[in-house]
Amino acid sequence: MMAQAKQFEPRIVAFVCNWCTYIAADAAGVARARYSPSVRLLRTMCSGRVDPQFVLAAFSGGADGVLLCGCHPRDCHYSSGNYKALRRYTLLKKMLSQLGIEGDRFRLEWISASEGEKFRRVVEDMTDRVRRLGPFKLNGGP
Ligand code: FES
Repeated sequence: MMAQAKQFEPRIVAFVCNWCTYIAADAAGVARARYSPSVRLLRTMCSGRVDPQFVLAAFSGGADGVLLCGCHPRDCHYSSGNYKALRRYTLLKKMLSQLGIEGDRFRLEWISASEGEKFRRVVEDMTDRVRRLGPFKLNGGP
C-alpha cells in the first residue's frame, strides 16, 4: 500500500468579534459542525479593535491566512467599529497586494451570532483557497 502525501493544512488566524462571530463559532462547535481544526480564534471586543499591525503580526508569526470577522453593518455594539474595520481592511488589502501577498490570504466577513453555519462555510472556503496557494512566504522567502 502506498503512503499518501500529507495534505497541507493552512494555519488561519481568525479575529472574531466577541458579540457576534465568536458566538457563531461557538455555536458551530456545539453543533459539531466540521470546520478546519487549523483555525485559531482570537476574540476581540469589536472588529474595529483589530489594528492592522495585528494582521501583519499574524502573518509574520506564521499564519498562512487571516480572517477578520465582525457584526453586520448597523449591528456593531460600539456603533461604527465594523465600518472602521472595513476601511482598515480595504487599505490593508491594497498594501498586502503591493507586498505580493495574495488577496485570498486576507478576508473580511460579517457573521452574526446566529450564523454558525456561515462561519463554518467561510472557514472551509478560506482554508481551501489558502491550501491551493500553499504556505505563506513573503517575497518567495523560506
Ligand atoms: S461589536 Fe462586533 S463588530 Fe463591533
